Amino acid sequence: MEKLFGKKNTAILISGRGSNLRSLVKYSKTKKSLIRIVLVVSNNFNAKGLDYADRSKINNVVIKYSNRKSFEDRLLKLLKKNNVDLICLAGFMKILSGSFIRKFNKPILNIHPSFLPKYKGLNTHKRAIQNQDKYSGATVHIVNDKLDSGKIILQKKVKILKSDSEKSLQKKVLKIEHKLYPKAIIRFLASH
Ligand code: GAR
Repeated sequence: MEKLFGKKNTAILISGRGSNLRSLVKYSKTKKSLIRIVLVVSNNFNAKGLDYADRSKINNVVIKYSNRKSFEDRLLKLLKKNNVDLICLAGFMKILSGSFIRKFNKPILNIHPSFLPKYKGLNTHKRAIQNQDKYSGATVHIVNDKLDSGKIILQKKVKILKSDSEKSLQKKVLKIEHKLYPKAIIRFLASH
């Protein structure tokens, strides 16, 4: 029943600008949306995405990241309190522990700015340009306890031109991310 009729209570975790948060909020407001964004959490007080969450009247909380254990303990409590069914990492730059993933025990999705399994971790655009790759891309995957290694839900390629810089590639990839994340959520929830 829930699968067919209920929207998933979703928490978005961010660390910065929040452009993927914006695209997910827009998607959540569409008629066919399968998610209801009930919470935005940031580890960073200065994350711009928090202003957007404020303006959109979405409950948003900063949890100071003094250490992983205290951050994750507070996060788990908050997720429980808000009945969160699904977490979407959207430019969240901390790594969640296996213990957190097991305790939460519900799906966690992440968007990564490369065509995985290429370029896990940081500086994806720089590495793609340095290696003179012909293409890069973006990937939405399920989060497991190995960095950027969980099951891939959806990914899309972009061409890297000779004239591309790290910055121009980042822009191109971000643009496709904004379409890819809502699509991946739809695909994922259709089968879960
Ligand atoms: C996005 O490109 C996202 O894929 C990346 O950070 C950017 C956040 O932008 N995420 C990671 O690198 C995760 N390891 P945004 O704050 O504007 O959504």
